[in-house]
Amino acid sequence: MKCLLVVYSYHHNNTQKVAEAMAKVFDAEIKTPQQTNPEVLEDYDLVGFGSGIDSGKNYKELLDFADRLPQVACKKAFVFSTSGMPIGISGQQRVEEYTSKCHTTLKETLQSKGYAIVGEFGCAGFNTNKFLKYLGGINKGRPNEEDLKHAEDFALKLKQ
Ligand SMILES: Cc1cc2nc3c(=O)[nH]c(=O)nc-3n(C[C@H](O)[C@H](O)[C@H](O)COP(=O)(O)O)c2cc1C
Repeated sequence: MKCLLVVYSYHHNNTQKVAEAMAKVFDAEIKTPQQTNPEVLEDYDLVGFGSGIDSGKNYKELLDFADRLPQVACKKAFVFSTSGMPIGISGQQRVEEYTSKCHTTLKETLQSKGYAIVGEFGCAGFNTNKFLKYLGGINKGRPNEEDLKHAEDFALKLKQ
């Protein structure tokens, strides 16, 4: 199965770390939206779209890329993110529910282009946005080894 991961990650490279764990399983390349010609997605059996979360949505750079994609005939895709939702207070399940909501715009855009969403993954990411930087940030050390193992397991399930 030929897989590509299109990833935009800049705040602390949190989503990049998750993408790297998944890429090992899929033996996939990781590219940024800027490095990816929307037409080449045709060459892949599965495409993963990942980024951090800003204002409750995947990063604009990734959403804009999804907007530029040509129509495809039922291609498989999955979406993923890391978010600043405080895992220590909320717990894993709330983080997953929150990230699933945050993925809505990306999922709807991909579906409108003909992609079937076959999975989604979300985990906590170190966040020093705005005032949080004065407090040393939240979700320090996330994604951690356990998060990356979950990302690997998620990819393994999709691969099977
Ligand atoms: C400008 C900005 C806005 C953010 N907005 C949100 C948000 O709305 N919700 C959230 O949970 N996290 C938010 N975060 C936290 C990031 O989504 C989180 O730290 C993520 O793991 C960063 O991913 P990256 O290192 O791959 O860029 C924001 C971070 C930045 C820098």
